[in-house]
Amino acid sequence: MSKEIVFSGIQPSGEPTIGNYIGAIRNWVDIQNEDKYTCLYCVVDMHAITVPQVPKDLRKHTLEMLSALMAAGIDPEKSILFIQSHVPAHAELTWVLNTITYMGQLNRMTQFKEKSKRFEEASINSGLYTYPVLMAADILLYQAKYVPVGEDQKQHLELTRDLAERFNNRYSDTFVIPEPLIKEQGARIMSLQDPESKMSKSDADENAYILLLDEPDVIRRKIKRAVTDSEGVIAYNDRQKGIKNLINIYSAFTNEDVETIVAKYEGKGYGIFKEDLAEVVIEGLRPIQESYKELINNKDYLEKVYKEGAEKAEYMARKTLRKVYKKIGFIPR
Ligand code: TYM
Repeated sequence: MSKEIVFSGIQPSGEPTIGNYIGAIRNWVDIQNEDKYTCLYCVVDMHAITVPQVPKDLRKHTLEMLSALMAAGIDPEKSILFIQSHVPAHAELTWVLNTITYMGQLNRMTQFKEKSKRFEEASINSGLYTYPVLMAADILLYQAKYVPVGEDQKQHLELTRDLAERFNNRYSDTFVIPEPLIKEQGARIMSLQDPESKMSKSDADENAYILLLDEPDVIRRKIKRAVTDSEGVIAYNDRQKGIKNLINIYSAFTNEDVETIVAKYEGKGYGIFKEDLAEVVIEGLRPIQESYKELINNKDYLEKVYKEGAEKAEYMARKTLRKVYKKIGFIPR
């Protein structure tokens, strides 16, 4: 029996944050290392252009993201690691899925509503609007059963399932219905400056996030400045959202559970906790940063990885697309 398929993607819209790492990438690595699934991990450059990009930066960020994923543990010998625009079937299936997506569904997407707030109404492009359909195509093309993501992608996964079911009902069984894999702990790492909103690399305030490649001193400074509260007690609850978020980060990097951490810091102040947290994060990121420095300078190797990845992905994607085209009534060439 062939293995079940796992698919996930990340936008090369800058360096990954520890939110991306905790909510998604480290889970991708764990799943890969279970050796139970065929894993596909994709740098989604086609998604990235739904907001303005400087072309040379996009190229740079795409290779940086590829290197960061490998540095974090994605092994191209074990997983299919590739760049979205290298497999044109993503765009082709998106078109077909667009024709079975209702505008009402897209109007309900909270991420679209949030992102479009950043732009004048007249300059919101239709790619940003249909972005979740491209995401559905990414997943359905590979017949993925599991999609490891952070909490913020849940609604997009629901749409994907809905489109898959609609297509299957209309034309007969074609797509596997995918399921999100969202870890309870760390699925939503919050901004260090505003614990009500999620940590995001596109935040205007750089103190709001920690990047995977931040230098130790930068990490210390950002954690020191992280917003807390005036209660002065290290506890895990929704009144103290800042501290709760820091505990989540601590837990992600040490694998200690929340209760253990709270007990360890009983009677201690925020200052000590923050100092320790900074060291935990620095140590956790150190091996990733070392490996990244080697990878990013090895352009030939990166090229080899993404070319081989694209070939393998293309083969799988074409198979699904052929089926889809046949079912909807296109004549094979
Ligand atoms: P992106 O690039 O915004 O984020 C990549 C992954 O990181 C997770 N994530 C977080 N998790 C916890 N806390 C945070 N603060 C945080 N910020 C981001 C995201 O949930 C995501 O899993 N549309 C997707 C990319 C995508 C995709 C796909 C994902 C395109 N096609 C197909 C899965 C399957 C996105 O913009 O992720």
